[in-house]
Amino acid sequence: MTSADLIVRNCRQLLTCGGPIPKRKAALRDVGLIENGWIASLDGKIVFVGREKEFRKEVKAKKDCRRVDGSGLVGLPGFVDPHTHLPFAGNREGEFALRLKGYSYTQLAEMGLGIQTTVKATRRATEDELIALCLGRLDQMLLHGTTTCEAKSGYGLNLKDEIKQLKALREVGKIHPVDVISTFMGAHEIPAEYKARKNEYIDLLIGKVLPEVKKKGLADFFDIFCERGVFSLADTKKLVKAAQKAGFDIKVHSDEFVPLGGTEFAAEAGAVSAEHLINITETGIQKLSRSRTAAVLLPAVSFFLMLEKKAPARELIDSGAVVALATDFNPGSSMTESMLFVLQLAVYSLRLTIEEAINASTANAAYAIRMDKEAGSLEPGKKMDLVLWHVPAYTTLVYHLGINPVRHVIKNGKMVVKDGIKI
Ligand code: NIG
Ligand code: FE
Repeated sequence: MTSADLIVRNCRQLLTCGGPIPKRKAALRDVGLIENGWIASLDGKIVFVGREKEFRKEVKAKKDCRRVDGSGLVGLPGFVDPHTHLPFAGNREGEFALRLKGYSYTQLAEMGLGIQTTVKATRRATEDELIALCLGRLDQMLLHGTTTCEAKSGYGLNLKDEIKQLKALREVGKIHPVDVISTFMGAHEIPAEYKARKNEYIDLLIGKVLPEVKKKGLADFFDIFCERGVFSLADTKKLVKAAQKAGFDIKVHSDEFVPLGGTEFAAEAGAVSAEHLINITETGIQKLSRSRTAAVLLPAVSFFLMLEKKAPARELIDSGAVVALATDFNPGSSMTESMLFVLQLAVYSLRLTIEEAINASTANAAYAIRMDKEAGSLEPGKKMDLVLWHVPAYTTLVYHLGINPVRHVIKNGKMVVKDGIKI
């Protein structure tokens, strides 16, 4: 017998999304469905997942055990959002209005707007202001079923303000229930004051900012925007080499607008993930599929930027790539905290099956930030991060649009959202 301090009984459907992880090809369609499922945890870690009969044989409730009724609810692992630009100040509604008038994202960037607008606002904000902004956004994530997220710096673009963003992330990770994995993305854009001296900015990143971020232990990953007009393939190689030498795991924003070879390089360099991939080439698809580098797709970006072009998700999955989904939450190309919205877009616009989209938002998303040993699936030993959805079946999550069916969220074995309200 194993003892439990939290028991969720009789979920109409319980989807474990259990491993082997990462999931590729046909395995991506297996969500580990248990009808009338029971799940129990002790000290925040799952100790049992299965049917009532086994539960009665294997689990003993501790004296102060909390019991939650899952009747009429569908249980899924908390979503993992493996790509967000969480710590920013200001907004880009003015520029959104320009986009509605016909200016493209790239045109705005060339006009010195876009990321630069957010850099100005973020540099002006204090660490406490950033913390307050992040906490509000993490609340939204939690209320929409996300229990772990990755978050990038990259709106400071100098030593002081990159560190400020990363410190804010470490702080919110301590005080908010959502687990926050932080990424240093000083290579998000070339700051305006270095526009004509890109190499000096790269030297600053390598010589000063990277070592400082490492020394202070402020980030788990290094990310770079490999894109025309931003960092070239040669820049990317140079920066990634330095980051790897300093001990960072690598993520790359590649093939968002123009394919420069960033995806191929990410796979060769053993990056944890290559992200965006809207304009990935055939070679890129083949290279990724034969690698352990995750393909993180961000369908809300194509939607938000109203692009015809979408990442070739079906081809990536069918050739065996590890596909994950993320919001890319940021003020310029994807202003949403909702992984459910992203999951729906993945089905409607990238043609994933519902099961593929669920695994790509949980188990594979955790893999894309090296959290798959702890989160992303409901298996004994992993964190008790469970979302109970008020839907008749998991398929309804994609069928019924524009509502938020989250009923309860359990994080590390504690109820943090009850009846749709954060407690
Ligand atoms: O992932 N592409 C680069 N970075 C973000 C956008 C950031 C912004 O526009 O503020 C992205 O789409
Ligand atoms: Fe991004």
